[in-house]
Formats: sequence, C-alpha cells, structure tokens
Amino acid sequence: MEVKAFYWKGDRLLLLDQRELPEKESWLELKDYREVGKAIREMAVRGAPAIGCVAGYGFLLGVSSGEDPEVVYHTLKNTRPTAYNLFWALDRLKRALEEGKDVEREAIAIEEEDYRANIRMGEIGQELIPKGARILTHCNTGALATAGWGTALGVIRSAHRAGKEVFVWVDETRPYLQGSRLTAWELLKEGIPHKIITDATAGFLMRKGLVDCVLVGADRITKDYFVANKIGTYALSVLAKAHQIPFYVVAPKSTFDTSSVGEESIRIEERSEREVKFVKNVSIAPEGSPALHFAFDVTPPENITAIITDEGIIRP
Ligand code: MRU
Repeated sequence: MEVKAFYWKGDRLLLLDQRELPEKESWLELKDYREVGKAIREMAVRGAPAIGCVAGYGFLLGVSSGEDPEVVYHTLKNTRPTAYNLFWALDRLKRALEEGKDVEREAIAIEEEDYRANIRMGEIGQELIPKGARILTHCNTGALATAGWGTALGVIRSAHRAGKEVFVWVDETRPYLQGSRLTAWELLKEGIPHKIITDATAGFLMRKGLVDCVLVGADRITKDYFVANKIGTYALSVLAKAHQIPFYVVAPKSTFDTSSVGEESIRIEERSEREVKFVKNVSIAPEGSPALHFAFDVTPPENITAIITDEGIIRP
C-alpha cells in the first residue's frame, strides 16, 4: 500500500508521527489549529509540500472553529521559516477566505494538486535517469514529505516502476536522520534496492565512480534559482560538480518563491542544539559543548544541472 503522511477527515486531521518512524507507525488526531502548528514545528510532519498541505488543513480547522483568521494565519506561518510551500498554502487559503470561496475545497485542492504535481515530476524526471543508475539522495523527499509519491524520491519511484533497475545511496542526513529513518523505510516498502551511508561517505563514493547522479528536493527556490534544501545539499552539489556528476533538484511550482532574489533573501531555519547533541534522547556530546544547527543550506544555480518541476525541466 502507498505511504500516506496525513488524511483529512472532514473535522480532524490524522497525521503519521514521523518522529516515531521507522520503529512505530503512530497517528496523531488533530482538531485544533494550535496542535497542527506544534506538529509542524516539532517535525511530526515535515517536508515542504507536506507542511504546506497540513498547514492548509490547520488554517481550515482554525477558521471553521471561529478563531480570528489573522491569528490562525500568523500562528501557522511562524512554525518553520524556510519551507516556502507553508507560506504559499497559507496565503492561498487566506485569499480564498477573503474572496468568500469554500476554504475546505481549497485546502483539499492544494493536497490533490500536490499529488498530481509529484506524479508529473516523476514522469518528466525519470526520463533523465539511465537504466541501472546508482542515484544518491539526501533527506526524505518521498510520500512522507508530500501529499504522496514524492519529489526526488518520486522520480526514483517512477524510474523503478518504469523498469530502470535503479539503486539508491541513502544519505543518513544528520541530525534528524530523515534519510536512514524515513527514506530507507519508504524504499524498503517499495522494494527499491538501496544502502544507507553516513553523510560523509558521498564524496568517496563519487571518487570511486559509484554514483551516476544526485537527486534532491527543495524547500524554497528563488527567482534566480538559488535552492534552499536540507543541510548538506550544498556540499553534495560541490562534490557532484567536482566529479562531473549530474545534480538534479526536483520541486513543484509551489516551492518557487518568485518574489525573492539571491541567496541572502532566504531565511534559513536554525533549530535547537539539542537535536545535534542527542539522538533519540541519548546524549552523544559533552553537556558543556555548544552546537550549531542550521537546518538548511543554499545551493547556487551554477551547481545545478537541472531543476525538474511539474511544468517541465529548467536548466539554470
Ligand atoms: O526539515 P525537513 O525534514 O522538513 O526538510 C525536508 C527537506 O529538506 C526536503 O528535501 C524538502 O522539504 C523537499 S521534500 C519534498
């Protein structure tokens, strides 16, 4: 069965708690927009497109229970600063409300459009993947990070289903471990051959000629094609360029912030040092040592071979 990160049930939102994966599949039942905000901030749900869809349902829960739409809008907006889909979805729903449109229908449309965009990106992107390709991917960009199917992982899924016999190197993606916990879980369910590697292994594999292309997602893309994505993406782009390996970004149009220009226009989320110093509540660093935790970095357009979108391929 296809993986699904959330379900809208008419009066409540069911959310697969991604903090518990892969050990446990537990579902949160959210009826209050504040709970939705908390789930986004604390990463029970994550991945830019999924955050956008879920925030949309959060907005709907808030306004339909009579809360002040401005308060609901700002509370949800202040959860994660980099994922553009969050802002895009909330702006769209606020506008729908102001124009007297059916907000529930609009929230559902956002989810359905995202799913269709992923399928389209899969079709377009898999054409670029050679048979037998060994693909390196970072973070989780699959069904868990979207309304379903996935962006970069969606392209991998489509290539696999098209019989391309792909193999995936899965970056573990410190510190939240989206790669080893979530991407590996999805690949296993789909029966796609893969191996988990520590983030620092990528360069050595490239040097040994064991990587044919890199596929990543995006949290925000500026008008001039600077790409914010999970921390470590920039380093991968530099490595790919040095080894002349194609570096592809896969993202729907809802991730493009056409009002921003240049890397300085992107606000990069900084998260707590605790997430670096602890793994699942086990301390892995001296208590007295401070840690720095940027959740994202920015890759410049000159390091990107192509951006695969639901409307076609862009070569920055
Ligand atoms: O911190 P996360 O897990 O929300 O970060 C997710 C990513 O960086 C993804 O690559 C991005 O959101 C695209 S997901 C389709």
